[in-house]
Amino acid sequence: MQDKVLRGSPKSQSKSLPSTYWDGLANIWDKNIQNPKSFLRVAYFEADLWISKVISGKRRVLEVGCGTGGSTAVHCSQVQHLVATDLSPDMVRRAHANLSGNRKSRNVRFTVADVTQLPFSSESYDAVYGRGVALSYAPDASVALRQIRRVLKPGGVLAIDVMNLRPTSMSTYRWKVFQMMGRTPVYQEVKDDGRVRTYNVFDIRPGDPWIRYCRAGKKVRCRPKNLRRHTTRSYLAKARYFTPQEITAIVQAAGFREVTVHPLGHLYYAQVSEKPWMRKFWREHAEDLSRFITELEPHVRTETAIHLLVTARKPRNGA
Ligand SMILES: C[S@@+](CC[C@H](N)C(=O)[O-])C[C@H]1O[C@@H](n2cnc3c(N)ncnc32)[C@H](O)[C@@H]1O
Repeated sequence: MQDKVLRGSPKSQSKSLPSTYWDGLANIWDKNIQNPKSFLRVAYFEADLWISKVISGKRRVLEVGCGTGGSTAVHCSQVQHLVATDLSPDMVRRAHANLSGNRKSRNVRFTVADVTQLPFSSESYDAVYGRGVALSYAPDASVALRQIRRVLKPGGVLAIDVMNLRPTSMSTYRWKVFQMMGRTPVYQEVKDDGRVRTYNVFDIRPGDPWIRYCRAGKKVRCRPKNLRRHTTRSYLAKARYFTPQEITAIVQAAGFREVTVHPLGHLYYAQVSEKPWMRKFWREHAEDLSRFITELEPHVRTETAIHLLVTARKPRNGA
């Protein structure tokens, strides 16, 4: 399940982010979702609205990439049995802790699982869902979708989101930073060109003096010299954006039918509008506005959405 990484070498392989990377985010993930400047709150709330429409009333349901359990908490009372999974053991632990006092979550079982190698029998779930774009982070979305199709019963349904490749992407950026990923000190370079986000991550040697930069979260302009001397391993990972047409084709090629793509996150532009009255109106009515725009979906362009929520069905006849 762990990514293969190159040890003691400056060269890196292109893979998905290893579970240790996500482990490092487990402690701060809940805060990230609530960050008032982030689009996550809007996009995730709307994803959950669509997911609810698809999975409500189903018997056995699988969640992939559950993270700290935000979406698990929303959907557990809508289904009979829910298995919530994530690649990262620390995310799963945190999700379990977050839901432990919730009486409605007694039907939830948590387990560590990679969406590209699901450890479940074929045809064992009535629905599979995921919120938080695990499919964009998977090394190959087709492999993940074929796994999901395998574990779904004939006629079973899918609802999962991905990052949208927008014509005018707002997320073109790059940064270089020393930071702590949980307990692991790393130096990382992140570059996002709006089509692919690339993470080049180097683990700092135990006891190395550069660990103090990681603790301070030091940003730098250029790659530090002698990086190899200070690091034990590196990995190069990519997260992918998809156009509505691309993700439709990939989901169909994985053997799904009734594929529909729904736009998520447009109201983020109200959240960060230059007009104070728009920001105020959004703050006061955020969730109702999201419900409103979700109902208006046929009139909203998928091309300009921040994330896309894909719904689909596995054919009943096994075709
Ligand atoms: C952006 S976070 C979203 C977390 C959560 N679903 C939420 O809505 O808050 C993406 C999650 O996908 C998980 N993930 C990434 N790649 C994965 C994979 N190949 N299989 C399963 N989970 C994966 C990460 O560990 C992380 O928890």
